[in-house]
Formats: sequence, C-alpha cells, structure tokens
Amino acid sequence: MRLLVTGATGFIGRTLVLRALADDAVEEIIAPIRSPDKLRAQLAREGATGMRKLRMIKAAAPAWNLRDLGSVDRVVHCAGVLFGRSRDEYFRVNVDGTLDLLGQLGDAPEVLVLSSQSAGGPTPEGHQAKKLNHPDRPISWYGESKLQMERAVRAAGHQRVRFLRAPMVLGPGDQATLPLFRMVRGKIWTKPGRALKHFSWVSSDDLADAIEVWFERGGGLDVAHVTSPGTITDAELMLTAGQVSGKKGRLLPVPQFLLKPVAFASKFIPAIGENVPSLTADRAREIWPNRWVLDADPFHQATGWRGQATLEDTLARTLAWFQREKLV
Ligand SMILES: NC(=O)c1ccc[n+]([C@@H]2O[C@H](COP(=O)([O-])OP(=O)(O)OC[C@H]3O[C@@H](n4cnc5c(N)ncnc54)[C@H](OP(=O)(O)O)[C@@H]3O)[C@@H](O)[C@H]2O)c1
Repeated sequence: MRLLVTGATGFIGRTLVLRALADDAVEEIIAPIRSPDKLRAQLAREGATGMRKLRMIKAAAPAWNLRDLGSVDRVVHCAGVLFGRSRDEYFRVNVDGTLDLLGQLGDAPEVLVLSSQSAGGPTPEGHQAKKLNHPDRPISWYGESKLQMERAVRAAGHQRVRFLRAPMVLGPGDQATLPLFRMVRGKIWTKPGRALKHFSWVSSDDLADAIEVWFERGGGLDVAHVTSPGTITDAELMLTAGQVSGKKGRLLPVPQFLLKPVAFASKFIPAIGENVPSLTADRAREIWPNRWVLDADPFHQATGWRGQATLEDTLARTLAWFQREKLV
C-alpha cells in the first residue's frame, strides 16, 4: 500500500508516520512537508527504522504543487493551522489547502481528513453529547474553517473522502499539553472558571487505530466522532497530570473574564504570542463553554471499534516523552 500523510511533522501526522514505518502492509509513505530536515530530526529522535520507505517532498498548503506522485492508495490529511493569527490564515490553509490537495490527488485514493470537534461547536444546551445531526455551531475561526472545509469538499463533489471530527487529542508528542505538565510542577494549578468543564478526548493511539479501522471496515460513514472511553473534566485532567508527575498542588479557579486580557495580549503583543500560541484570542473563545462532549456511538455501531486508552496511562506516556525531550 502507498500511503500519503500530510502534516507529518505535527503531533498526529508523526504518530501515523511512526506506525506506518513499522507496518509491513505499507510499502511507501509519501510525506509532503515544509521541512524535510525537521521530520528527519524528529524521526531520528524517535529511533525510527524503515526510513527507506519514507519519501519526503518539500511542499506547503495552500498550493501543494505535488508532481509525479504515482498512484496513492490512502491519504490522511493532517496538515492544518490550529493556532493562527488571523481568520484568513485558518481559511487559506485549512480550506483552500484541503481543496487544492484533493484536486491534485483526484478521486483514486481513499482519503481521511482530520476535521475537528470545533467544526460542530460545543455540546448544545440540554444535551449530554453533541450528535452528528445537531446543527453545527462553531465558535472560533478555527472551527469555522474546519466546517467550511467539510462543506467545500462536499460541494466540489470529491468522492471517497471522510472527515474525522476529533475531540482533544492527547498522547506523546503533543506540545499543547506541555504548559499543563509545567503548571503541575508548581503549587497552584489554575483552571478557567469555577464550574467543571466536561470534555471528550481521544488518545493518539486510539485515534490511529480508529483511522485504520475506518479504512478497513468503512462503515458507510463519511463523517464521524471518534473518542477514547469516558468523559473527563478539566480538574481531572490537571489532577491526573499532577498524579503521573508525582506532584501535589491546589486547584485555583480563575474567573474567566481575567483570561480574556491574556488572550488578547497573546495575539497583539508578539513577544508573548510567539510563546503562547495556544491562547490566541480566537481559540480562547473555546474555553468558555462548559461542555465539549461528543456522541461517538455511530462510529462504534458502524465499525464495532471502541477506544481502549486510559487518561492516566496516556498522560504518563506523554510525560515520559517530554522528559526524554528534556522539556520538563
Ligand atoms: N491535536 C488535537 O487535539 C486535534 C484535535 C482535533 C483535530 N485536530 C486536527 O488534526 C490535525 C493535526 O493536528 P496536530 O495536533 O497534529 O497539529 P500540529 O502538531 O500543530 O501539526 C500541524 C501540522 O500541519 C503542518 N502545517 C501547518 N501549516 C501548513 C502549511 N501551510 N503547509 C503545510 N503544512 C502545514 C505543520 O507543519 P510544520 O511542522 O511545518 O509547522 C504540522 O506538520 C489538524 O488538522 C487539526 O486541526 C487536532
């Protein structure tokens, strides 16, 4: 099988490339990336073997300019902007970049596009979980761009394309959880707002398994929520990060209005913003709602697959990764 993975230098793309390198069913991995040196260095640190079947192509969204690819069997499109500086940046990469990529690949390969829970927005009031047939109400530019991407791909009539609406993804290599592990080394652990926030989540291993299952068993779904077992709260996330780090601290709820100035500062004061990409004013809007829980039953029913990961094991392995990288 010839597999094409975009975003291979990112958290999820790299997880998929590492698995594909170790998978005998994959003969060639094609990785269009902005920096082949970056991916080479990352894979070397992971101790990856089987590099001879990896073909790196220097390319970037929104104009991928992929040539002489030959036939490709499967595509997992992970490249995307998660923390952009402007609405335009999200739309250029996430919408135009996806349309351009699919246009160049044609309808021959089976394609799975990483969309996001943000495309649908938070769980609607009065419901335990957001279902796929609830109206989509994104509340960030990021979410709007992911929803627009799904709609534009369908409108363009592309065949054999699936959208995976992932919730928060956790696992080794996820830079977004670094601030969490750094915070639990101190005594005061701040959480936004007094009310508990409830989330679906998925470990990167469960996500990679689900992607494979979806390709294998199809299930007739063209869009799905995929989760690991259980719903977690923001407090549980912090307490578990503290527990696996062997640290104890005090949870301090911070009034949400105080977070807003920080979010704006991170956008407009570049020296802060460069270091705090996860708290741009746009993505900060996703902090306010208290429920981001997804209904993953349709995927379970269609494929028979269920996630296996536990939060404790996932965070322990994430911490081990940060320790190996000397980041904590
Ligand atoms: N992580 C999550 O919790 C989560 C949850 C739901 C959905 N998703 C979706 O899953 C996908 C992967 O997320 P991730 O966590 O792996 O993100 P990530 O770690 O930030 O990686 C993003 C990847 O996209 C690449 N990229 C960004 N802009 C690009 C451009 N203009 N041209 C080519 N490549 C570009 C990056 O390349 P460089 O290394 O060159 O910057 C990197 O390889 C995204 O589409 C995201 O929306 C993620």
